[in-house]
Amino acid sequence: MKVTEVSHAGGRYPVYVGQGLLAVSSVLQRHLEGRVLLVSDEIVADLYLDRITAGLDENCRWRSLLLPAGETHKTLENWQRVIDTLVEMRAQRDATVLALGGGVIGDLAGFAAASYMRGIRVVQLPTTLLAQVDAAVGGKTGVNHTAGKNLIGAFHQPEAVIADIDTLISLDDRDYRAGLAEVVKYGAIRDERFFSWLESRAEALNARMPDALLEAVHVSVGHKAEVVAADEREAGQRALLNFGHTFGHALETATAYERYRHGEAVAIGMVLAARLSELLGRLRVGTSERLVHLLEHLGLPVALPDDIDRERLLELMRLDKKNRADRIRLILLDEIGSAAIDTCPADDIREVLTRS
Ligand code: GLY
Repeated sequence: MKVTEVSHAGGRYPVYVGQGLLAVSSVLQRHLEGRVLLVSDEIVADLYLDRITAGLDENCRWRSLLLPAGETHKTLENWQRVIDTLVEMRAQRDATVLALGGGVIGDLAGFAAASYMRGIRVVQLPTTLLAQVDAAVGGKTGVNHTAGKNLIGAFHQPEAVIADIDTLISLDDRDYRAGLAEVVKYGAIRDERFFSWLESRAEALNARMPDALLEAVHVSVGHKAEVVAADEREAGQRALLNFGHTFGHALETATAYERYRHGEAVAIGMVLAARLSELLGRLRVGTSERLVHLLEHLGLPVALPDDIDRERLLELMRLDKKNRADRIRLILLDEIGSAAIDTCPADDIREVLTRS
């Protein structure tokens, strides 16, 4: 087991990464207090609930609440169900919410914990690669509104994060690979050595070898922890984590969130952002091909499909309130392992989009 400490304005918390951690109740026990509400979705609960209930039975009064699975259920209605359950349990300020699942459950249960009695403890038990390397660490919580994703939310750091890499073995293939896109992102924006390591271990990652998974998740969590410690509220460098996301979000919106997993859209977005960085003369020409090669090796999409209207993508990218009509703000690469936030002319983005 590897442990990373995340420091933030209100204290610090451990992120445990290891094999079989959901069944090792001693790790979870350290972080149980008061009444416990375990929030999960029906699919994840079927797979993993049994592993942790024995430990809970011995140690505390607890209840579970299972919500329907999927992003469309990250709503205020389901937030209300979590709050109602806490009320029924007569949970006090010392209660603990356990969020067992992917990013949707982590965000929703985390937001319920952030808002119930102005904040109770949440322990994140992420079961997807995306949640383990990104969503569960760093305290972003929230739900969607019809007007936008994550429109309602709060920063609320967890008490602990317990990432059991055994849960990655049974993860759906596309979900697993989509999570790898965020792993590659850390290498691309912060760590050339890690990027090279990913290149050399791509086969092991494709085979989901435990030693490769452990290292990939641990190093990614280390990067997320450093970024959060430096910029918890995204006033500066935390925004670098959005590398590939401006293009990616536009692509997700243009395809009604139905065609791509988030990580798949980010993979294509990272390639486009790297090509744009080359066009702008800040990244050595040819470097984007290194990114393409690694993403392809990991089974991720790297090209914009022909049927996507490029002008519409540009319009969607312009929608961000921080953008002026002629310049768009996004994350650019200076080299593998180094990125910066900058604005660039919409015409250059159009050129990259039409060439891709
Ligand atoms: N997922 C990006 C962040 O936590 O800031």
